[in-house]
Amino acid sequence: MNSLKLKSTADGSSTIYNELLDEHYHSIHGARQESLHVFIKMGLSYFLQSNPLKNEYSILELGFGTGLNCILSLLHNFSSEKKIYYNTIEPYILNLDTIKNLNFNLSENDLIFFEKIHLLNWEKEHEVHHNFFLSKFNTDFNSFKTNDSYDIIYFDAFAPRKQPHLWTFEVFEKIFNMTKRNGILVTYCAKGQVRRDLESVGFNVERLVGPPGKREMLRAIKL
Ligand SMILES: C[S@@+](CC[C@H](N)C(=O)[O-])C[C@H]1O[C@@H](n2cnc3c(N)ncnc32)[C@H](O)[C@@H]1O
Repeated sequence: MNSLKLKSTADGSSTIYNELLDEHYHSIHGARQESLHVFIKMGLSYFLQSNPLKNEYSILELGFGTGLNCILSLLHNFSSEKKIYYNTIEPYILNLDTIKNLNFNLSENDLIFFEKIHLLNWEKEHEVHHNFFLSKFNTDFNSFKTNDSYDIIYFDAFAPRKQPHLWTFEVFEKIFNMTKRNGILVTYCAKGQVRRDLESVGFNVERLVGPPGKREMLRAIKL
């Protein structure tokens, strides 16, 4: 695993620590809890409730990583008739041995889907479940080009001080142009500069209660 180390977080779920960056993939206060709070509760679930008449929802994730946000999104929608189209970007694909050692408190049945989302080829759309379609792109966000636009953006890059080139006005402007009207962006980060940059590209930004161990997070809406 070289510079990547498996770690356990406060809720018992795993994360990965990147030694070179000195950065964790998730909150050490609880990886699963963080993902459930920031991306599922404040992102997907909020959007589904605010747009009940839609039958299809599209998600763009910046940073596929361990696939935690992806599997939790699939499970959240598991028995629904509504379809989710999930696109995700990752330049540094984790190897399968690393993935197999992660513990996200998933049931045996959930693990079948978790393994599947990792085994599927990149750069192609796959039906993972009857209502969940996954496209993984092995690229840097700055090189990512698409004609698609999205209802929900999961902005899950490493922290601004570690990856400043992903938290710029230009990146948020590109994302704003890829976001549908009434679409939202959610991120665990609540930095003032990030909020101001999101506002200056055109989003309306709310500060929300953060996951355990973090006071605030951000949700941006394209009105
Ligand atoms: C905070 S982690 C989040 C991971 C993921 N969402 C998860 O649940 O495991 C940040 C992720 O962004 C990825 N990343 C790094 N540079 C990137 C870039 N330029 N474009 C897109 N993703 C990037 C990292 O490799 C890492 O997987």
